[in-house]
Amino acid sequence: MISVKVPVAIFISGRGSNMEKLVDAAKASEYPARICGVLSDRADAGGLKFAAVNGVPVCAIERKDFADRIAHETAIQKQLAIWGAEFVALAGFMRVLSPGFVTHWQGRMINIHPSLLPQYKGLDTHARALAARDKEHGCSVHWVTPELDGGAVIAQARIDVLADETEESLAARVLKEEHKLYAQTLGVVLKAL
Ligand code: GRF
Repeated sequence: MISVKVPVAIFISGRGSNMEKLVDAAKASEYPARICGVLSDRADAGGLKFAAVNGVPVCAIERKDFADRIAHETAIQKQLAIWGAEFVALAGFMRVLSPGFVTHWQGRMINIHPSLLPQYKGLDTHARALAARDKEHGCSVHWVTPELDGGAVIAQARIDVLADETEESLAARVLKEEHKLYAQTLGVVLKAL
């Protein structure tokens, strides 16, 4: 059977541990993605090194090098076209994309978020879950729409919040779940396209 891999670009801003898991997953012949490039809005993003060492094309396109957000996003679109990207996976990309950009990629762009959406959109999700004394916390993979962290949820992973939990311990345990959930969900989504 001939399996066709979808060219997927991953956007990061920093560490890139979720990106690493996607790159590793895509090494399997049966996985439906080929990571065609890793794009960062920060030249110093730690994840860029891992991607490059693993033979994935990388590109840093910083906002400060452009007059406005639209010019920045136009440069990003150009790079995606050069890579032939057909799908985008946001993985710790810390920039809110414009409605025009999001609409262009709608149905072909997903994100991983460290909370059980629709709870705790935005930042500081672990601290907010602890402050609310939630018994459960987790992560979500969702479609990207113009509303920040507001697109339909595709999959979630849940963990119990422990009695002696700190923000750091909770973040670390959720991140472990993110690493499994994102690669698995991207595979399912691409197979269903
Ligand atoms: C993850 O917790 C992800 O859910 C959030 O930002 C973090 C990025 O971590 N959007 P990493 O760069 O993938 O290690």
